[in-house]
Amino acid sequence: MINNKTIYHIVTTSGENYNSVYLNWHSDKNNSYVLLKEADDSNFKKMKPTSAIYWDTKNTFNANSEDSFYINTRYVCYLHLTDLSDNTIYEYKIVNDDEESDTYSFKITSDTSLKFLAFSDLQNPGNLVTHNLMNKLSELCPDANLMVCSGDLTGTAANESEWTWLLDNSINPFKDKIFSSSVGDHEYWGKDVGRGIPMMNIPDTYNHIFRNPQNGPINYLNSSYYFIKSRVLFIFLNMGDSNTIKGPIFEEQILWFNDTINALKEQYDFLIILAHKSLYGSTLIDPGVAKYIKPVWTKVFDNANVDLVISGHDHLYSRTKQLYQDQVSNNSNKGCFYLDLGSSGNKRRNLDGTTDDNLHECIIDINGLNIAVGATCEVENDSLIVKIYDQEGILRDHFRINKKF
Ligand SMILES: [Fe+2]
Repeated sequence: MINNKTIYHIVTTSGENYNSVYLNWHSDKNNSYVLLKEADDSNFKKMKPTSAIYWDTKNTFNANSEDSFYINTRYVCYLHLTDLSDNTIYEYKIVNDDEESDTYSFKITSDTSLKFLAFSDLQNPGNLVTHNLMNKLSELCPDANLMVCSGDLTGTAANESEWTWLLDNSINPFKDKIFSSSVGDHEYWGKDVGRGIPMMNIPDTYNHIFRNPQNGPINYLNSSYYFIKSRVLFIFLNMGDSNTIKGPIFEEQILWFNDTINALKEQYDFLIILAHKSLYGSTLIDPGVAKYIKPVWTKVFDNANVDLVISGHDHLYSRTKQLYQDQVSNNSNKGCFYLDLGSSGNKRRNLDGTTDDNLHECIIDINGLNIAVGATCEVENDSLIVKIYDQEGILRDHFRINKKF
């Protein structure tokens, strides 16, 4: 039981395409099920979970009482829904012997329009800055049915209370949206965070909260994946795994990325990457990014002609010009924009001067201004329009990316 609830961590994640989703939840009982209906219908339909696996991991991963996710047993459940109807709002509740959840909802749009909200680094429990920001952006862009995030959803992912803070809050922004994320380094943290050693070898608690499309590389199954919506290919990369910033697992993800691009190249107009670490963010905060990750991934992104990379990790805000081969592109059909959203939560850092170069178009001192930021994104005709807002709804930056020909 978590916070007197026997059903908790309810969240809707995207399936493999625009009209499929996963409904995720945890239950103390093994007989929980979903009541689902279209919003216009009067009656709910009972549906069994696709999977309900008993989580009993006491004494694993060196966990102690601070790693409370590993102390509380539960059933980890999801229901995979496919071929849902266009332009339809679905409502659902989770039920078990003891309890019926609040009503959650999500909207399936048609496959010809796309509006979504983007966030980074939601982490830092103990306040509602994150939730207020997410709700403010939902208000500003009410047609967005999808929220994406580039990782660091929690500070210490093995600590159950951080997931409770994120997902079970009274002003829950996840209640009527589809949410898809990549993992950050903090999705690997347990009690050893104080010693700088990630506790988990895989983002274990993350993987048991979010079921994502199972189309990623073997070693990062569920934390790297893709889907296509409205001719936008979203690829979520695992750049949270600090132990494998080089070596075979690192290379496996690149091979998978290139294979994915080649297989899907006729199916998309825009290619957007969600990846935790900012290739053009601060070079001081995580020196491994500039040394190992950036030289390799910028080449991969150039070859794939990526349009936009959304990242965070350094808790600064910066946006580059269109870059190709580590320089400002002189051909608008080549090159990528790097958006370091820095922080959508309450953890921010001071600018350190390392983004003061001719590669950047916009730098915002989010710590000095005391703001969290997120983006509304919209595909309109042949453009992707991105607007950056703070938690008060003040527009702080905006830019447009044109479709390449
Ligand atoms: Fe991070």
